[in-house]
Amino acid sequence: MKVFSGSSNRPLAEKVAQNLGLKLSSLEIHKFPDGEKRVRVVGSDLEDDVVLVQSTGIPVDENYMELFLILDALKRSGARSITLVSPYFGYQRQDHMFREGEDVSFKVIVQMLESLKVDKVITFDLHSIKIPEFFHIPVVHLTVLDLFVGKIDKDSVLVSPDMGGIRRIKYLSEKTGLSFATIEKNRDLKTGRVQSEKIEGSVQNKNVAIVDDMISTGETIRAAVELLKKECAEKINVFATHAVFADDASSILDNLDVEKVYVTDTIEVPKEKQFEKLEIISVANLIVKELR
Ligand code: R5P
Repeated sequence: MKVFSGSSNRPLAEKVAQNLGLKLSSLEIHKFPDGEKRVRVVGSDLEDDVVLVQSTGIPVDENYMELFLILDALKRSGARSITLVSPYFGYQRQDHMFREGEDVSFKVIVQMLESLKVDKVITFDLHSIKIPEFFHIPVVHLTVLDLFVGKIDKDSVLVSPDMGGIRRIKYLSEKTGLSFATIEKNRDLKTGRVQSEKIEGSVQNKNVAIVDDMISTGETIRAAVELLKKECAEKINVFATHAVFADDASSILDNLDVEKVYVTDTIEVPKEKQFEKLEIISVANLIVKELR
């Protein structure tokens, strides 16, 4: 087996290769002045099963384009099979038409991956459990929720910041025996501003663990924390699988009245977006377990 890495999350790819007792195989990724990229597999004759690690967070289009080019280069260099480890898939939230006339972004992504002959996909905490059905190849859909269990205070109420997260909260509730509450959220599609108005379940004088699949702008978490504080919650910790951290999400999170923000390394968080309350948990071992 050979492990390759795109440029989106090299630290994770290195951990995966190291835990497998391998070194990352060599890939040249050249960026031209106009932004185009060219990819080359060094020492071409692969004739091996290949694992490619590439996450598709910010810059999402660039990371996808690079992924497509790497897949092409790997196939042309004789890769016997390609397992794509894409811990986070960009565009997954547009998995259906919300309004007439819209595209179905993630369907397009899947068509591209399949046409480039990916054999298998390993990924984490997809926004919807329906997404694997888009593919005609095996999809291993892993969760990081078990990694969160040990970090959740034993006297907390689990909170989903929107109705879409109930599945995750129920999973954790079964694992921990903790009770849960859910928030009803509304997002203004023009401004992106989120309003969290109603909570089902009580958090009064209780510690809270908010659990979400991803933090993008930080609006969902900001609105949830404000509502929970209004409802007299005590200490709040935040747990989210994917640290997308768009715009000034990290400073929004840093300024919230919360103890800690736990995320994972499905997306690499650049140094300038890290803050004191942030703790990053690695998913490398979960990937290695699956690859073995
Ligand atoms: C939405 O359904 C997701 O589960 C997340 O809550 C959302 O994508 C987070 O985005 P943001 O941080 O921009 O509010």
